[in-house]
Amino acid sequence: MSTNTTDDKRKVTTLRFKQMKERGEKIAMLTAYDFSIAQLVDEAGVDAILVGDSAANVMAGYPSTLPITLDQMIYHAASVVRGVKRALVVCDMPFGTVQVSPKEAVANAVRIMKETGAEAVKIEGGSEVRECIERIIAAGIPVMGHLGLTPQSINQFGSYGLRAKSDAEAQKLRDDAMMLQEIGCFGLVLEKIPAGLASEVSKSLSIPTIGIGAGSGTDGQVLVMQDMLGINRGFSPKFLRRYADLGDRIVEAVGNYVSDVKAVDFPNADEQY
Ligand code: KIV
Repeated sequence: MSTNTTDDKRKVTTLRFKQMKERGEKIAMLTAYDFSIAQLVDEAGVDAILVGDSAANVMAGYPSTLPITLDQMIYHAASVVRGVKRALVVCDMPFGTVQVSPKEAVANAVRIMKETGAEAVKIEGGSEVRECIERIIAAGIPVMGHLGLTPQSINQFGSYGLRAKSDAEAQKLRDDAMMLQEIGCFGLVLEKIPAGLASEVSKSLSIPTIGIGAGSGTDGQVLVMQDMLGINRGFSPKFLRRYADLGDRIVEAVGNYVSDVKAVDFPNADEQY
């Protein structure tokens, strides 16, 4: 494992996303939901920050992503944008903000762009949300698609297991991916699908694919920050690599603080006025 930070300080744009794919340069994306962590993640050199609706899980403690509201996503995304200098900031459109009608979808995407300063939105789904995505792109808003395990559909799927295992579902994913490229999406998240399928789809597209649990053949990778830093300690799917055990470190540090306070060892003479 390296501690690589990039020397390229130029702002990442949706255009540069495409150029990175053309150059064969892998895209590193991570989620963030607040100002302080966004600053650190940006400084470390990620190319893109996703203000994911996974905030519902890791920030708010809900069992699914469904409850998070547009206002809450706007609060998270605006906080992240204030901490970022280089990375492209993409904000998830939460459940219910796209599906009702194309008119409402555009109005909700416009709110995200105006009120957060994010540079793109991400939308789950394929042919079912085609018209909404077309209208949002026509309004000048870059859209990242999201296929495979789309957590907003958990009640239809019934589990967070691997998607596109059947020939029919794999073929729909291929068709949806091509359609999303054709209508103008600048990138596509592929979540928890077989590595071979993700690699095949990635090769068939000119827009970059960003994988999570989709193997190494995608054009980039995304992970949820709390998962990869070991803060979300109960979550350890096969695809997750833990880059730190911050959860354990936080418990240890806070435990030491509690002991010091109880023992009247904190603050000491140097730590007071
Ligand atoms: O909400 C999220 O964090 C996501 C990623 C898992 C891709 O959609």
